Order: sequence, then C-alpha cells, then structure tokens
Amino acid sequence: MRLSTNAIHKGLHFADPTYGSVAPPIYPTSTFVFPTAKEGALRFAGKSKGMIYSRFTNPTVSALEMKLAAMEEAEMCIVTSSGMSAITLALLHNLKAGDSIVSHKVIYGGAYELIANILPRYGIKVHLIDFKNIQEIEKHIDKTTKVLYFESPSNPLLEVLDIKKITALAKKHHILSVFDNTFAPPPAQEPLKLGVDIIVYSLTKYHNGHSDIIGGAVVGSTKLLQLMYCHSFIFFGLTMSPFTAYLVSRGLATLNLRLPHQSASALTIAKFLEKHPKIARVYYPGLASHPQRALVRKQMNYNGGILAFELKGGYKAGEKMVNNVKLIHLAVSLGAVESLIEHPASMTHSELSPEQRKQSNIGEGLIRLSVGIEDVKDLIEDLTQALKKI
Ligand SMILES: Cc1ncc(COP(=O)(O)O)c(C=O)c1O
Repeated sequence: MRLSTNAIHKGLHFADPTYGSVAPPIYPTSTFVFPTAKEGALRFAGKSKGMIYSRFTNPTVSALEMKLAAMEEAEMCIVTSSGMSAITLALLHNLKAGDSIVSHKVIYGGAYELIANILPRYGIKVHLIDFKNIQEIEKHIDKTTKVLYFESPSNPLLEVLDIKKITALAKKHHILSVFDNTFAPPPAQEPLKLGVDIIVYSLTKYHNGHSDIIGGAVVGSTKLLQLMYCHSFIFFGLTMSPFTAYLVSRGLATLNLRLPHQSASALTIAKFLEKHPKIARVYYPGLASHPQRALVRKQMNYNGGILAFELKGGYKAGEKMVNNVKLIHLAVSLGAVESLIEHPASMTHSELSPEQRKQSNIGEGLIRLSVGIEDVKDLIEDLTQALKKI
C-alpha cells in the first residue's frame, strides 16, 4: 500500500474484536496476563508474540510503530517518549567510550547539547563541523568513528545538505549515518532511499501535527534496530504512553494532506515576504533564490512548511513582529495545524552570543515561521498588519 493508505490502515490488525469499533482501541495497561506459565516463558524467550509489559511494548504503541515503518518503507520502527529520547537512543546505543562521532554543526539545539556537552562525559570524542564540505567530513573520520549525524533542511536558516553524498561517504568508511528528518517527513523527504541507515524523528511536530503530545521515533532496518530495542530501549525506559501513541496515529492519518498544503502555503507566503520592503531576506527551500535550489529539487518531494525571514530593523523589529501577530501563535515548535512564529535571537538561539549568532548567519531580526493549514490569505493579512507596526 502507499503512504496515505498505510498512514490510516497499517497496524490495525488487532482492531477491536469485542465491538468492532472503527477507531482503534487504546490499551492503557501496564501489564498483560499470561494464560499459562508456559506461555509466559515463551513470551520472555521471544518465541511468542504476546505482550509482556508496556515498557517493552503495548498494542496501541506497536500499531503506531507499524504505521511509521510502513510509511518509510522501513523494516522496523521504535517509538519513543520524545524526539530527544529517539536521538539519545540512536546515539547511545551505537557509541561507547573510545568511539567518536562526526556531526553537522547546525542541528537542533537539544541534539547539539547532547552531542557537544554530554557525549564527551562518557568518553566519546565529538567533531562538530560543516557537512556542506564533504572533504571536511572525510578529514575527521578515523578508525574510532562510528556515527555521522546530521539533519536537513537545517534550523533556522533552511540550509540543505547533500544527503546522498554524505551517506555514500558513511558507507565507504563503514560508519552509520543517523539523520534527523523532523523538518521534512514523508511525503516531503525519504532519507532511507537516499542511503540513510537510521532516521530519528520528533513526532511532536509534523507526524502528530496538532501540538498536543511529545513523542519520537527511530526508523531503520531490523538488523540495526532489533538489538537497539532489546539491549537499550527497554532498559533506558524511553517508552511512549498508549494515549500519546493513539493521538499520533490519529494525526498521521492526515499527514499526507497536511504537508503538501503547508508547503504550498509556505511558498505563497515566502514569495509575498520576498517582495516586502521591510524584509532583507527570505529563507525557504522552495524559492528560486534558495542557494541550493537544485539540490532541493533532487532530494525533496515537497519544500516543507517552515520558512525564515530577516527583518531590516534587527532585534527590536523582530520583537515587534512577533508581539503583533494576532492569528499566528507566538510559540516555539513547528509542523502543527496552527501557524507558529518565533524570534530565534531572543528565543531558540538566545543561548548563543550575538557573535556566535553572527558566525552562524542568524540575524538579530530573523523570524522563523511554521506555516499551518489556515487559509493562506488570513495568514498573509496577519503578517501584513504585524509588519505595518514595525
Ligand atoms: C529537528 C528537531 N529534532 C528533534 C527535536 C526534539 O524533539 P522533542 O521536543 O520531541 O524532544 C526538535 C524539537 O524542536 C527538533 O526541532
């Protein structure tokens, strides 16, 4: 089956045998009855598919895992309690003291914190470099390198990395590639087809899409994920609750409608902003002015719903802009049905000094906008009136 069908139907083989409800039941149980001691023993030995305990797995969670795996045409998925726990699982399972990781330096702030400041405490060597330069990546690879970590498009400037070239390099050196695809889940981008070994997600964003849960996932082959599940996931205790899994499953049903709609609206808004006199620059992968437009066309099916723009008036103009939107929510996060706006210099990237922001090209008047599914005319009217106040 194809993406939309899998998003709706996959994983529902257990559908309510008692009443035949169309909506899948939620199983809010911590533990499961073994009909006999022998069956209990078989489940512990992995010889029976019956459930044991909800930290290991649960029917509602497992249905979500099947949907996500099918949507990526992957063999396996492990759903986790947050995007950060998915990243933690993928990295800590594959790294140990004495190993090293080479990571792109422009990644989600939480992942940066984990890689730059926490992994070294466990004896793991870290190189944070610019993955736009493939030779630079190769220079940092040695016998201890176990993981290449990156994401594309990047936050907040929507820079794009050449996923195929980076994964080819990982394969050449027998290193795992771990890729955060939160900004562009299918149908927007299909990293496994571009050679990625392990995808990590914050399901909090596009997958769920309704700003009402925190969740994450790791997707890849059984060979890579089965031991990750048995040896790490269960003992790190990264489980998602069945209530959360139910909500993500419900959100997934419309992902293939939401993302193309959000991409189309984001392009309309980006084109509008590009012409506005108070705006110095717009960053959006769908614009002809995007510096890597040719690469975007090659590796993305949709451009996504996130864009950024630099106001000519700097920090003060940034504050004014986000204080004056009326329809769009002033909030971090992204990928939701409602549009969300934020000012990186005072919010998501405020931990960086003004010099560090300058080095990363994050201007003081930069605004990040996650476009929802509202009528695009209403969004443009809201942006227009807020821009007038600057
Ligand atoms: C690209 C990306 N990856 C991972 C995360 C972490 O996800 P969560 O907040 O669900 O832990 C975020 C959160 O904003 C993100 O933007």
